[in-house]
Amino acid sequence: MDRKTEILSPDQEGITSASALLAAGGLVAFPTETVYGLGADARNGRAVATVYQAKGRPSFNPLIVHVADLTEARKYAEFSQTALQLATAFWPGPLSLVLPLKQNAGLSELVTAGLNTVAIRVPAHPIGSALLQAFGGPIAAPSANISGRVSPTTTAHVLEGLRGRIDAVIDGPACKVGLESTILAVSGSTVSVLRSGGVEVERIEICLGHEIAQPQDPETPQSPGQLLSHYAPKALIRLNALHPQADEILLGFGGQPDAALNLSPSKNLQEAATNLFAYLRQIDEIATQHGNSIAVSPIPFVGLGLAINDRLSRAAAPRH
Ligand code: TXA
Ligand code: MG
Repeated sequence: MDRKTEILSPDQEGITSASALLAAGGLVAFPTETVYGLGADARNGRAVATVYQAKGRPSFNPLIVHVADLTEARKYAEFSQTALQLATAFWPGPLSLVLPLKQNAGLSELVTAGLNTVAIRVPAHPIGSALLQAFGGPIAAPSANISGRVSPTTTAHVLEGLRGRIDAVIDGPACKVGLESTILAVSGSTVSVLRSGGVEVERIEICLGHEIAQPQDPETPQSPGQLLSHYAPKALIRLNALHPQADEILLGFGGQPDAALNLSPSKNLQEAATNLFAYLRQIDEIATQHGNSIAVSPIPFVGLGLAINDRLSRAAAPRH
């Protein structure tokens, strides 16, 4: 792959260029509230194939389709009452719904990796939404990183991994949520969590009025992309560390005076989520420079802490 990778401004001119590149089958990275996505026209099989190629992503791992609003989403997926309830409550926002695929809706089969379901979401971001409006069609977008690496929350992260492999990136601000969307599979009135993420499971349960199944044992992924080792930094990682050992540097949470970086000194999970991927990259850099490994303070398993712990345990998992 040898592409020029333009850096587009986040104004109308940049959005128009990005939209034209997508229409021509190009690959454009763009900010969403969760992480940067690597977009391609979801109806164009050749474009979608180059997404897998640019990321080095196995083609059995389907992509999330991004649309401007619920009306657009209903062109591609069958919504049960429960799915409508969730979409109405949380869109636009960091929630992806895996729903029955509408036949003959025109999505490339590569997007869904041949499954009869489709993951779909409406992002809440001025630039992402403007791009979807301008393009006027569905944009398939996985996170804009090389497969298996840490997801990007800034333009610089995108360029670090994908410069020369994609046509453009829209240069927006750092992503506020900082973690990928929560993925729910909805079948009729049955809901299960395929990936914890930016919408807390507790809020989903309040919306539904009952509890739902927690994420599955990571050894048996429900989402083809939920491979155990993911988000892998180069240095080794030890979780739930109260203090760093001699050869470790600490990624802290809460009042940790010996932390090299602190996800949230005030123990704010939202702040920790926003910082997580950027700090993992930074601390990995420091650790590998000094031949250290990384220790991470305990993070509570509530709210966004579920998604933070999920990403950390994947980062710490044995590498394949
Ligand atoms: O926040 C996000 O969701 C970001 C931004 C860019 O929107 N996107 C993202 O995409 O995280 P990606 O490709 O990194 O993760 C998508 C996940 C994968 O684990 C994939 O296996 C799962 O969604 N997925 C997609 N379609 C699916 C389907 N039909 N059934 C089950 N899982 C599906
Ligand atoms: Mg990803």
